[in-house]
Amino acid sequence: MDIKDTHILNQDIIQSAPTTEPARQEFFMDRCHELIEEMIIESGHKPTFHVETFGCQMNAHDSEKLIGILLRIGYEEVATEKEADFIIYNTCTVRENANQKLYGHLGSLKKRKESNKNMLIGICGCMMQQTAVVEYIKSSFGFVDLIFGTYNFYKLAELLFYKLTETDKKTVVEVLDVPETHVENLPEKRKYSFKSGVNIMYGCNNFCTYCIVPYVRGRERSRTPEDILCEVNRLVNEGCVEIMLLGQNVNSYGINFLDESETIKAHPDYDFPDLLSDVAKIEGLKRIRFMTSHPKDLSDKLLDVIAANPKIARHIHLPVQAGSSRILKAMNRRYSKEDYLALVDKIRAKLPDVSLTTDIMVGFPGETEEDIQDTIDVIRYAKYDQAFTFIYSIRSGTPAAKMEQLPSEVVDKNFEKVLEEVRKVSAQSSSRFEGQTKSVLVESVNDHMNGYVTGRMDNNILVHFPGNEEQIGTFVDVKLDEAKGFYYLGHAV
Ligand code: 5AD
Ligand code: SF4
Repeated sequence: MDIKDTHILNQDIIQSAPTTEPARQEFFMDRCHELIEEMIIESGHKPTFHVETFGCQMNAHDSEKLIGILLRIGYEEVATEKEADFIIYNTCTVRENANQKLYGHLGSLKKRKESNKNMLIGICGCMMQQTAVVEYIKSSFGFVDLIFGTYNFYKLAELLFYKLTETDKKTVVEVLDVPETHVENLPEKRKYSFKSGVNIMYGCNNFCTYCIVPYVRGRERSRTPEDILCEVNRLVNEGCVEIMLLGQNVNSYGINFLDESETIKAHPDYDFPDLLSDVAKIEGLKRIRFMTSHPKDLSDKLLDVIAANPKIARHIHLPVQAGSSRILKAMNRRYSKEDYLALVDKIRAKLPDVSLTTDIMVGFPGETEEDIQDTIDVIRYAKYDQAFTFIYSIRSGTPAAKMEQLPSEVVDKNFEKVLEEVRKVSAQSSSRFEGQTKSVLVESVNDHMNGYVTGRMDNNILVHFPGNEEQIGTFVDVKLDEAKGFYYLGHAV
């Protein structure tokens, strides 16, 4: 799919734009800035924006880049879409209900858009990588101004420039089938000054039969170690103490690199554990987290690197999806129940204090009561601190969509059963730290309890304790007095 229906006034400016990146985007950010300045003079009002993000950490991180670009252009960020002149939806399409949510939002904007001629609506992200969705939005919500996908979100300024200078009311649409070029180092606005996500790779090659991600995020592409280490160093110099390394499957980091790299030339086998230990050497960086690990690729070398490095969080998010070997095979997960349980044993042997978390799906085609029992067995065995449970959602274009689907009553009943087990196990597991003292990275002042602050332990569990604003962004040793299910109450020691 490559749809471009832009009608452009300012051809001369566009002709004079640099052809290489990121210079081209810098150029369009400057041009948009000039247009916004004119708009402010005319209206006496600084235009505002809000980016609404759906979905995973990857999307959240992409949104930080969109926000960075809009701030640079001269827009002002506002907390809700109600106050915004420019709304961008960064969409997710992993499950169908995300699509429905977006259409609901769009439906409610039509009137507002009619009464505010300066209002802009943009939609980007995974959902836009599907031709049928783009066509539906164009026909049902023709008032949308910008549509772009996952491979070209860095082009926001360029597309916005087209929109602001076009003669007619058409939607500017640019969705690419495959990544054309990869652009880093554009402005980004981090949600927190003291912690940040860093993409180490894009896309996924696993093709689990239920999953849309490989179709909307493309094949796996790893960033070079030089590029990643340079970004982490920069972030640490800017005050970041915690980094989350992000990828759909970090354990296959290094199979396909985006670029030639000196490290790769010298060490052709450079892999994720190598990257982790290089990141851990960066002075000033205090805590390293990573996500997500596919169980089929988690190596002994990775566990050894974690064990040897106190800076690396004792937390592994290890999506199991299902407990039954038969269902796992149908899902193309490439491990069995026994393989997974053996992996849990190995992890716990090497990292006794580890926190395991997971994703579980209920209702995959063909799943029986017996299969659900396997899932429950795994939940009990793995003693997850937290498990995200999802009802299987049919995604058109995936192999599982062609399989015979289960009736929703059966799925709902099984889902409740699994959820109840998850609640029991995770409340028990996550309370095992009660009475211990743990290092907590303070994130914010607590909105509900006066005089309290909120932070996270290295396994991501929340802790509330009496404190003050000055502690935000610092690590505080906190005695965990009381486990409350998904969080702790404690006091600084
Ligand atoms: N239906 C329901 N859940 C899904 N996930 C991925 N695809 C689907 C789907 N079609 C879940 C998986 C994955 C998490 C991010 O989303 O559990 O680990
Ligand atoms: Fe989807 Fe499987 Fe890739 Fe995860 S590993 S993104 S579930 S295809």
